[in-house]
Amino acid sequence: MVIEEHDASQQDSVVSAYSGDDSDGFENSLRPTDFDGYIGQGEVKDNLKVFCQAAKNRGEALDHTLFYGPPGLGKTTLSMIIAKEMEVGLRITSGPALEKPGDLAAILTNIKEHDVLFIDEIHRLRHPVEEILYSAMEDFAIDLIVGKGPSARTMRLTVPPFTLIGATTKASMLAGPLRDRFGHVEKLRFYEPNEIQQILERSAQILEIEIEKDAAEQLARCARRTPRIANRLLRRMRDFAEIQHDGCITVAVVEQGLKSLSIDSRGLDHGDQEYLEILSRHFRGGPVGLSTIAAAIGEDENTLEDMVEPFLIREGLIQRTPRGRMLTDHGTSYGLGLFTSSEK
Ligand code: ADE
Repeated sequence: MVIEEHDASQQDSVVSAYSGDDSDGFENSLRPTDFDGYIGQGEVKDNLKVFCQAAKNRGEALDHTLFYGPPGLGKTTLSMIIAKEMEVGLRITSGPALEKPGDLAAILTNIKEHDVLFIDEIHRLRHPVEEILYSAMEDFAIDLIVGKGPSARTMRLTVPPFTLIGATTKASMLAGPLRDRFGHVEKLRFYEPNEIQQILERSAQILEIEIEKDAAEQLARCARRTPRIANRLLRRMRDFAEIQHDGCITVAVVEQGLKSLSIDSRGLDHGDQEYLEILSRHFRGGPVGLSTIAAAIGEDENTLEDMVEPFLIREGLIQRTPRGRMLTDHGTSYGLGLFTSSEK
């Protein structure tokens, strides 16, 4: 059985890597279900295949596994593949969804031997929940406090050996003792453009969408090296192709579609462009503090820091310095092109 408890607090634009709402099952329908269908992350995949096979041969649960890396790269998908490969059940939950120790205890007391428990955003676990997770991971037992005041007592419950798979976009926010309890720690990396193109072509085949090779290549270049974004863009291009063209996604459809969504050829959206414009025009390329940029844009600092800046930094357009944010030389010339073309 799969329990899904989603935290929908992170809103998304088309090119945001955060998951958003998948209530129509779009993302799920495109997930590969075995290692062979999973494109990219070669080293991680090869290691996991070995670890799964070895655990299976010994008749043991797979060691607890931590996946870390930016959103949208396939942490959930890999967990699903692992559970299938190990031929065990999978429970999916997330750090914020586990509000009290009892929420975790309810899952753990129902779990079957060798099952996989996937906790997304594990860095957001509340401390009391994290505490009982420690003993569950290490001793396969949980200590619950029953009752209140002087009559309160501890009750020890045993849980069958299971595999915890934790996923986080912020490994540095994990407490040391939690990190140390994972037998395998795997970092997921951004995909190469040719891998994203293959993913797009695979998804198009599943969804029975016609897409030209050049169009897939071009779309792959603006997907921020992230499968989730690639698949979302594919879906939007299908809309444009069906309503405004003859149904096939061609280069012309992609060009017009991206323009309509205000996404440029490198995958920068309106929010990114606004950030660069403010930094360039209002603050002459910086350095300027994040709080000042946030106030000028009317956006909250955490959103900029977590959802806008990482991509701009990775693209070499801005840098974080002790004196504040600055445009790089590349960012300055990129911005100049951006603003002159939008002023035409
Ligand atoms: N869909 C999303 N991520 C994928 C991947 N890594 N391989 C194949 N299809 C995918």
